Amino acid sequence: MQSESRPVADVLAELDARRAQDPDEHGGRLFGLVYPTGHPELEALTHDVYERFLFSNALNPLRFPRLAEMEREVIAVAGDLAHRSPTERHGGSMTSGGTESILMSMLVNRERARQRGIERPQILAPVSAHPAYAKAAHYFDLDFVQIPLDEDYRADVSAARSLISDRTCVVVGAAYSYPHGIMDPITELAALASEYGAACHVDACIGGFVLPFMEMLGFDVPPWDFRVEGVTEISMDVHKYGYVPKGASVILHRDDDWVWHQTFFYERWGSGLYATPAIAGARAAAPAVAAWAVMQHLGIDGYKNIVAELLSTTEHLRRGIEAIDGLEIVGDPIGPLLALQSHRIDLYAVADVMEEKGWYLNRNVEPYGLHLMLSPAHRSVVDELLADLAFAVAHHGESKGVAARYA
Ligand SMILES: Cc1ncc(COP(=O)(O)O)c(C=O)c1O
Repeated sequence: MQSESRPVADVLAELDARRAQDPDEHGGRLFGLVYPTGHPELEALTHDVYERFLFSNALNPLRFPRLAEMEREVIAVAGDLAHRSPTERHGGSMTSGGTESILMSMLVNRERARQRGIERPQILAPVSAHPAYAKAAHYFDLDFVQIPLDEDYRADVSAARSLISDRTCVVVGAAYSYPHGIMDPITELAALASEYGAACHVDACIGGFVLPFMEMLGFDVPPWDFRVEGVTEISMDVHKYGYVPKGASVILHRDDDWVWHQTFFYERWGSGLYATPAIAGARAAAPAVAAWAVMQHLGIDGYKNIVAELLSTTEHLRRGIEAIDGLEIVGDPIGPLLALQSHRIDLYAVADVMEEKGWYLNRNVEPYGLHLMLSPAHRSVVDELLADLAFAVAHHGESKGVAARYA
């Protein structure tokens, strides 16, 4: 830090100049990481919430009981969407994001396995599962076993059967997966887990605020939530398709009591009892309040309208991509996420051209290709995107060798 202070205007000018060099979150040119809605009133609401709660701290629910109440209401909404039987304590907590929700679930299931006498439990997760499961294994001293995918890019249940063991504490399935946007066979995975006394975590970090509304709109959605026997945990990110700024996710447990395994209590401190439901100590309250406010504002109908619009944009894009010679959609994705492959075109070279035109497509490794996660704001750019994609396919050169890197 420099020694002299700087005028506010000067600091903000530099900040704006730096920010202008990064992609614009609102421009519809990114496919993942951010979820712009293109609905100005929704974004204005979020700004207003942040203004009010900018300096709040969600650490102490006894000091801020109304804040804690709003968090509980968000958890209850997520529970309703996932068809969890309502209980007084809502069987879950809010966390900072999908990774923390997953970490909490894996910790809970390690503890439950230890209670059954399993000393070194094991996570069984599809190769398409988010790296957060491997991270949990690393943090919590668990073994991590990967289930290969079948030809439809779903977790291969017969392979899972050959890999599961008495040490498996949790079987993971996605609703739906990040790399391909495909639903794992949750019913079968949950049944297999139950046979071995293991838990079944459904990763609905992406799908949690998409699939319930798809079902309400009459789309054919395979079973994935607490209506499936054997599903014990579900993670649902509000900061993705819930349209809330980063820092908001929900982890739900079928049984209220399991939340205690993720709750840390410490009584031997000079300042009294310390307890937290997840990893953070002091934590921003604004994401949770924004989640509450956005849910209040949109209601079921608002989310349904957004999802309907999003799916029609996805369909439009999908048809357009399929009409470009040489491009193929990977498998049969259920929602607003498309993975692309090609048997004759180097798609990383296509991505290079797209980047020159200002489109930040993601690169996939398996299968080699591209990855587009759509947000509502893409509706207004989809024709331009398709025109540029057709151009890039027709005019690409050699790939510059940019690797697929998520983080
Ligand atoms: C399926 C899935 N699970 C978990 C996560 C992790 O979420 P976060 O980045 O909020 O920690 C992601 C992130 O993209 C995801 O796609």
